[in-house]
Order: sequence, then C-alpha cells, then structure tokens
Amino acid sequence: MKKFNILVVGGGSTWTPGLLKSMCVRQESFPINQLTMLDTNADRQKVIGEFANVLFKEEYPDIKFQYTTDKEKAFNQDLDFVFVQMRTGGFKMREQDEKIPLSLGVIGQETCGPGGFAYGMRSIKDMIELVRDVRKYNKEAWILNYTNPAAIVADALKRVFPDDNHILNICDQPENLLRSYGRLMDRDPRSFDPVYFGLNHFGWFTHLYDEAGNDLLPELRNKILDGGFRPVDYEQRDKSWLETYAMVEQMVRDFPDYLPNTYLQYYLYPDKVLNKLDPSFTRSNEVMAGREKRVFTECKRVAEAGTAQDSSVVHNDAHGEFIIIVAESIAYNRGNHFVVILENNGIVENLPNDAMIEVAASLTKQGPRPYAVGEIPTFYKGLIEGQFAYEKLTVEAFLEGSYQKALQALTLNRTIISAGKAREVLDALIEANKDFWPELT
Ligand code: NAD
Ligand code: G6P
Ligand code: MN
Repeated sequence: MKKFNILVVGGGSTWTPGLLKSMCVRQESFPINQLTMLDTNADRQKVIGEFANVLFKEEYPDIKFQYTTDKEKAFNQDLDFVFVQMRTGGFKMREQDEKIPLSLGVIGQETCGPGGFAYGMRSIKDMIELVRDVRKYNKEAWILNYTNPAAIVADALKRVFPDDNHILNICDQPENLLRSYGRLMDRDPRSFDPVYFGLNHFGWFTHLYDEAGNDLLPELRNKILDGGFRPVDYEQRDKSWLETYAMVEQMVRDFPDYLPNTYLQYYLYPDKVLNKLDPSFTRSNEVMAGREKRVFTECKRVAEAGTAQDSSVVHNDAHGEFIIIVAESIAYNRGNHFVVILENNGIVENLPNDAMIEVAASLTKQGPRPYAVGEIPTFYKGLIEGQFAYEKLTVEAFLEGSYQKALQALTLNRTIISAGKAREVLDALIEANKDFWPELT
C-alpha cells in the first residue's frame, strides 16, 4: 500500500494535536511515510512538535516526522497532500476582528460580517503565497485547506489560480452538524447521505437520507423543535458554542424548510446575537483562555512526561478526522460523499456559475464530483446572492486595492446594512490592519 507524504502548514495550530492523533488512529487506512509540519512561529510549533515526537514514538513508530520553519525544507520534497490551517495575525488580530465591530455596535465574529472581512483580507495574501510555494515543487499535490474565512479564501484562490484543480477548501462545520444529528438520532453519521447547499458558513441541509433512502430530515426537525439542539461533543464545548447550537431551534422554528448551518444566526438575528456578545470578552478571549491554553499546557506536559498515554487534549475529533477521511477518499478514489466548497457551474441552477458554493460531492482521484441541487427557493437565493456579492467584492477589494469595493462589500453585509456604519467600521479596520492589508485607495 502506498504511503503518503504530508505537509501540515500551521503546525502550531491549536487543532494540530487532534489532527496528529487522528493520523495515529487512521494509520492503517491512511499510511503516512513522511510528515512535515511548517509554521512561521518557531516557538509555537516547537511545543506541538515535541508533543508529536512523544505521541508518534508510542503510537506511530514508523512515521518519519520533522517540523520546520524553513520553507525550502518543507516544500522541496515529493508531497501527496498539503493540509493547511494557518491564521495570519494570530489570535491578537482575531481579537481586533471581533472587538472593533462590537465597539461600533455591529456583530464581531471571526468569519462572519466585518470580522470575517478583516480576517479574509489578511488570509488571502498568505494563502496565495502558500499555493505558489507548493506549486514550485509539487504540481499535483492536493492542497486541502481549512484556513478561514474559507469562503473568501476559496474565491480568491479560484481567481488567482483558475486552472489549479488540486485545491479543495473544506469546513468542518457541516461534518460537526452531521455528527450532532447522528447523536440526536442515535445513528452513525457516516451512514447519512446529505443534500446541502449554500456558501461556506451560510448553508442549509435540505435532505438527510439514510442507507435505505428514507429522508430523516422531517424526524430530525421535530426532534430539534421538541428538545433543542446540541453539538455532538457538547460535554467539551464552551458556553458560547452551546448557545450557538441552541439558536438552531429558533432558526428551524422561523424557517422550517431546511436545517441551517449554525453561522446563519449572525445574519438572520444580528440584533439578538449582538445583545449576547460581550465587547470586552469575545470568542477569541474564550479560546485563548480555554483551548489554546489547554493545548499548549498539555503538549508541554506530555513532552516532559515522555508519554502521551494519559493525554486528554488530543481526542479524535471531527476536525482532525474529517480532513484525513477527505484525503483518503481522494487518494484511493473511494468516491465517498462529503460537504465541500467548489465552483457552482450549474450545481445550483439559479445561482451564479462562478460562486464558490458548499455542497455534497463524491470525492475521487479526479477531485469532487458534485451532486446536482437544482433550483433553490427565492428566500434562500436572495440571502445567498447578497452574501456572495459581499464575498466577491471583498476579494476584489483585496486584488484591486479598492476602498470603494471594500465599502460596497461591508454595506451589503447583513450584519451591517447602513453605508455610514460600513464606512466607520472599514476605517477602523484599515487602521488596525495596516501591517497586513494592501493599501485601499
Ligand atoms: P492558531 O493561531 O492556533 O494556528 C495557526 C498557526 O498558523 C499558528 O501557529 C501560526 O503561527 C501559523 N501561521 C500563521 N501564518 C502562517 C503562514 N503564513 N505559514 C505557516 N504558518 C502560519 O489558530 P487555530 O484556531 O488553531 O486555527 C487555525 C486555522 O484553521 C485558522 O485559519 C482557523 O480559522 C482554521 N480553522 C478552520 C476550520 C474550518 O472549518 N474551515 C476549522 C477549524 C479551524
Ligand atoms: C467551526 C467552524 C470553523 C471554526 C471553528 C472553531 O468548526 O467551521 O470554521 O474555525 O468552528 O471556532 P473557534 O471559535 O472555536 O475557534
Ligand atoms: Mn468552518
């Protein structure tokens, strides 16, 4: 069986230990020859890298593992897959993305609204560079990208690399939702055959077929309306995530056709969500005090103890497992179906062909083979077209250095609406991001 060479970009990510653990768990079905981790922050990555040395010694002794900040070492090798999860500007800038809009009275969120705009304008530059670096030595390697905001990154990469058909942008939220449905229904989520449409962090499940071809969605909707909704791993989730999942019940009550992605709460109920957000302690503060602290403390402890056997932070979660089963399906031409991000080209008949949409597709060696969705109803089409126009203008604002397009993007976003407010937020974000963004004129 062929063993794969993998590069993880963003080795110092809080999600890396879970990903490494998933690699251990799936070593029979996805055997790795050489694993390299690359990060721009040596200190951060070292902690995870030293943890990995202990973990692999115990659980994956034949893997060849290295971590580096040297791009040449990382890219100048024969790679099969590049897994990307970088965060340009780190949590410090995420905090700004959340707090600046909130200080001006609008939603402050990492990937949605003006926070997502700011983060997108930072991610695009580094993601373009990453693709160029990979392609310098590896024309065929699959780039599986988690880096957020995935919708904006996907659109930018499609524009800059239109002929590159080995880039796949993915999000673990549809997978998290499927696993949560599985727990609620007491069924194996891998047996679900979902129909989903939308943009990243802006979509809906329309059907959820079981192996016998029965649509489970009506039963699932009733369960959510009767008993509410929680994440599959709710025992480990922070309060804000539990509140986010709980909002699904409200969304289903108001719009019962389909089951919504949790991120739609920011666009459908911006006033209500805004009231719940604390401008002095946002999600980035919760992550820095929670997941980030836990992961780094635990990785240091494991490295000192020399054993990962009793380690608690690294469980086999949806995030780590998802990217590997996606890679497996591509590598072995399995054709398993997953919800992924790809160019519309008629999948949703009444949306623009060039929109990067999120839909179910079978993943083969040739890449995603999407399932047709057909026409979608006016309400959903209207919401998506507004959001897609925002995303498109964001990418154009970056590529053209256009203040006017940035202003149009933010004015279109449902979390802002007012052009005056959009200008105020944009000017504050420009000031905070001057080390990262192109100049907007
Ligand atoms: P993090 O800051 O802990 O990790 C990111 C790492 O990337 C850091 O160690 C940082 O030093 C490194 N980095 C930054 N720029 C880099 C570059 N140009 N090259 C190489 N490394 C670089 O953040 P996190 O919360 O662990 O998230 C990591 C990324 O994964 C973020 O973009 C996040 O939004 C994304 N993510 C996406 C999904 C999804 O559903 N698509 C799910 C989870 C996380
Ligand atoms: C979900 C989303 C991701 C996001 C992640 C973590 O899984 O799909 O895009 O990065 O949540 O969010 P957090 O706020 O916990 O860092
Ligand atoms: Mn996501």
